[in-house]
Amino acid sequence: MTIDIQPAVRLFGLSGSLRRNSYCRSVLEALQAILPPDVRLALHEPRLPLYSEDEDGEASPHEVRRFRASIAASDGVVIVTPEYNHSLPGALKNALDWASRPLGAAALTGKPVVVISVSPAFTGGVRAQSHLHDVLLAIRARIVAGPQIVIGNIAAKISDGRFVDESSLCFALETIGALLKDVGRGAPAAAAASSHVLEEGAV
Ligand SMILES: Cc1cc2nc3c(=O)[nH]c(=O)nc-3n(C[C@H](O)[C@H](O)[C@H](O)COP(=O)(O)O)c2cc1C
Repeated sequence: MTIDIQPAVRLFGLSGSLRRNSYCRSVLEALQAILPPDVRLALHEPRLPLYSEDEDGEASPHEVRRFRASIAASDGVVIVTPEYNHSLPGALKNALDWASRPLGAAALTGKPVVVISVSPAFTGGVRAQSHLHDVLLAIRARIVAGPQIVIGNIAAKISDGRFVDESSLCFALETIGALLKDVGRGAPAAAAASSHVLEEGAV
């Protein structure tokens, strides 16, 4: 008898915010809590030095090397971004610039990426998401296809610092399920419950 034990899927979760009580981080933590045990979502912040070509290459900063290595070692990436002035925050863009090099062998190139945007406004950071898509296309990351995951009015969906909006989480799990399929795994069990949300909430 052979027992087929598959290694855990490793997801690199990246918040677009550096804020202490970030809503983006709360969403990632909520996803982390509901993903099955064989899917590990590690949380990261875009807290890196400002990109300079002079400091890239052999002598790139150690936190950048760690950041790139963690993305490279992951099976996929989940980015949750806020919207700053109708675009993605500078800290996130900076981190993605580091992750876009070395050209042709960048950690993010070819990686499947799920994008989620959030905002206290009803618009849910949709403009930031659109700009983020452009950046990811330039890097040749593989944006996981599916309805856009846009979480508006997020302040009302946080309780005691925890993101508690089940329908948004189910909706996000659908696309994370597509990522898992893409890397040869089945969709997470909780995603099955969300088909009605898909019909109601597709953007
Ligand atoms: C510099 C700045 C610009 C912002 N611009 C926008 C914006 O264009 N659209 C929007 O919906 N929210 C905007 N906001 C509000 C953010 O969506 C809000 O602060 C959000 O909570 C940030 O995400 P976080 O909680 O993960 O830090 C802005 C906030 C800041 C600090």
